[in-house]
Amino acid sequence: MIHLSGIHVSLKGNAGLVNILRGISLDVAAGEMVGLVGPSGSGKSTLLMVIAGLEQISQGMVHIAGSDITHFSEDKLARFRARNIGIVFQSFHLIPTLTALENVAVPLDFAGMPDAYERAKAQLDKVGLMPRRDHYPGEMSGGEQQRVALARALAGGAKLILADEPTGNLDKNTGKQIADLLFALPGEQGATLLLVTHDEAIARRCGRIVHLEDGRIAP
Ligand SMILES: Nc1ncnc2c1ncn2[C@@H]1O[C@H](COP(=O)(O)OP(=O)(O)O)[C@@H](O)[C@H]1O
Ligand SMILES: [Mg+2]
Repeated sequence: MIHLSGIHVSLKGNAGLVNILRGISLDVAAGEMVGLVGPSGSGKSTLLMVIAGLEQISQGMVHIAGSDITHFSEDKLARFRARNIGIVFQSFHLIPTLTALENVAVPLDFAGMPDAYERAKAQLDKVGLMPRRDHYPGEMSGGEQQRVALARALAGGAKLILADEPTGNLDKNTGKQIADLLFALPGEQGATLLLVTHDEAIARRCGRIVHLEDGRIAP
């Protein structure tokens, strides 16, 4: 599902070139649940963005779901993401002027998917939020917002779910509820999960742990 080979990401900072990722090679099989851990600043978020095709690499190859996306155009990447990849962020990233249902359905609609609202309702039901479908993000708790974000990530039938510290803004109990959904729902639709987390209890539930240190995978 994920095949990364020799990934380097270097950015020009004030003090010259900063090497953020320094030769990452990684393979993740379809259906795996992989935890990505490592100190703050080690490059976890950057690596997730490379896999999502949202961060430019300076060297290497990125294959996702059998496609070599390394040299895809922005347009092609956007279409590829809409069909294949769902992303969940620490800070939810919902659109505040859209209801829960619209937050899930509108991206599907944009991607030209038929039955966007029916699909969105079915997914909201899976995260237990149908009763809140007409509520705006500002009217929901953090945990509820993250459940909407998870529904949005899954609703298009994504084969790959990327989650960047999805429980980082939640208390322990709410975080566990989100983790329970994260370890259940992607698997139900045969999706692969790559999860960045600082929570050791959550990391232990992953099938495999990858340690990042200073832009490299630690042995
Ligand atoms: N746009 C940027 N410009 C310069 N440095 C950046 C930029 N984005 C991230 N970095 C640096 O890259 C390193 C890795 O960042 P990040 O991927 O966010 O790490 P993590 O998610 O593991 O905390 C950090 O040292 C960060 O300061
Ligand atoms: Mg990060």
